[in-house]
Amino acid sequence: MFKRIPGTKDILPEEALTWQKIEEASRKIFFLYNYREIRTPILEQANLFNRTLGENTEIVQKQMFLIPHAEDCYALRPEGTASIARAYIENNLDKTSVFLKLYYLGPMFRFERPQKGRMRQFHHLGCEVIGTEEAYIDIEIICLAGVILEELGIKGYQFELNTLGCSKDKNGLKELLNDRLKDNLQHFCPECKVRFNRNILRILDCKKKACQEIIAKSDISHTHLCPECKAHFHLVREGLNSLGIKYRINPYLVRGLDYYNRTVFEIKHPGLGAQDALGAGGRYDQLIHELGGPVTGAMGFAFGIERLLLVMNNTPTDNGKDLVYVIALGEQAKKETLKLLVNLRKSGICADTDYTSRSLKASLRGAGNLQAKYVVIIGEDELKKGTLTLKNMLSGEQKEIKATDLIQTLKTDIKCCARTPAGN
Ligand code: HAM
Repeated sequence: MFKRIPGTKDILPEEALTWQKIEEASRKIFFLYNYREIRTPILEQANLFNRTLGENTEIVQKQMFLIPHAEDCYALRPEGTASIARAYIENNLDKTSVFLKLYYLGPMFRFERPQKGRMRQFHHLGCEVIGTEEAYIDIEIICLAGVILEELGIKGYQFELNTLGCSKDKNGLKELLNDRLKDNLQHFCPECKVRFNRNILRILDCKKKACQEIIAKSDISHTHLCPECKAHFHLVREGLNSLGIKYRINPYLVRGLDYYNRTVFEIKHPGLGAQDALGAGGRYDQLIHELGGPVTGAMGFAFGIERLLLVMNNTPTDNGKDLVYVIALGEQAKKETLKLLVNLRKSGICADTDYTSRSLKASLRGAGNLQAKYVVIIGEDELKKGTLTLKNMLSGEQKEIKATDLIQTLKTDIKCCARTPAGN
C-alpha cells in the first residue's frame, strides 16, 4: 500500500471546508485592500532561489527539492517572493503600473524534518507590494496581516518587528556581530561556526539553546543604522502606533533569507509550539534590481496556512450549502429523480441523491450525514398522484406538494436558495 510522503498531507473534504474559509476570507480582505492575484509556476530554475534567498541560507543549503533536467536544475519553489520578483521582471510589469499590489495562495516545498507546524509541502497565503520604499506601505502591510488574522478569528498573536537598515547598515550589523561574538566562537554549534565566516547574520536564526544564549548576550541594538533608515523605522513605528497595532521590537530578528533590508517582521503565536511563526515578511528593496529589473522598493509577507489552521477554532461548521436531498423509492422514481435533479441544479439549487436502494429510514440517515437541509421523497404513491413529499430536516416538518411546484416552493416558501452561488 502506498503512503503519503512524510511532511505532506491529504486535505480531506471536511478539512477542505476550513481551507476554503481561509481562502475566501483572505481573498475578501485582499480585495478590500485592492490587491490582485498572481499565480506563478511551482517549478522554477533552482538558481533563482540560490541568487535571491542566499547561498548560505538553510533553505538553499539543505531544503530545496531539486530536479536535475538535462543541463538545467529545477526546484520546487520553497517560497513565493523570488518567483514573483522573477515574474515582475519577465512580464515587464513595471511598464503596466509603477505600483503593484499582488497576492498569492499556493503550495511551497522545503525538505525539512517534519514536526508540528513544519511540513515538506505547505501552503503560503501571501502578498507583495512592488514600487515604493515608503514606510507607509510597511505600516499598511503589517496592518493587513493583522486584519486577515482578525477575519479568521485568530487571537493571541504577537507582531515582532525589527529593521535591518540598508545594505551599508547590514554590513555594519555584521561587523558589530563579529565583534560581539568572536570571543565565544568555540561555544557555538558546528553550523554556527561555519555561519560565522560565511554569513554571520544567519547565526541569529539558529534555534540551538547554547547558541541562542550567546546571541542574547551580544547586546545588539540599532546603533548600526544610518539616519535615513532610523527615520524610516521611526515612521513605521509611529504609523503602527497611530493604528493601535501592538508589536514588540526584537533587534535579533533578521529572518532566514538574504534578500531583506529595512523593516522585517514575524507574527508569533504561543499555540504553535517550537515553530511559532504564523507568518513573516519584510522589505526587499534591492531584490528586483539584483535580478535585472528596475530599481524599486518592495515589501511583502506570507502566512503558513497549515499554521493558521493550528490556531484557528476548527469546530466542524456546516457545509455552507442548502442541500436538497432526493430519496427515490423504486426504479421508476429513480428515473424521475434524474430529471428532477437536472432541473433543481439548473435553478441554482444544490441537489443530490445516491441512487442506492436503501430503506427510507437509512436514506434519511444518509441525508442527515450530508447535512441536507431538505429532503424530497419520491415514492410510487407520489408518482401516481404527481406529487412529492418535502421534508424540512431542521424543523422535521413534512408536507406533500405538487411535483411541478417543488422548485418554486423551495425558492420562495423555504428560501432554500439564499446561499447558492447563483443567489437566485
Ligand atoms: P518564511 O518565514 O520562510 O518567509 O515563510 C513564511 C511562513 O510560512 C512562516 O512564518 C511559516 O508560517 C510558514 N512556513 C515556513 N516554512 C514552513 C514549513 N516547512 N511548514 C509549514 N509552514 C511553514 C517567506 O517565505 C517569505 N517569502 C515571506 C515574504 C513575503 N517576505 C516578503 N514577502
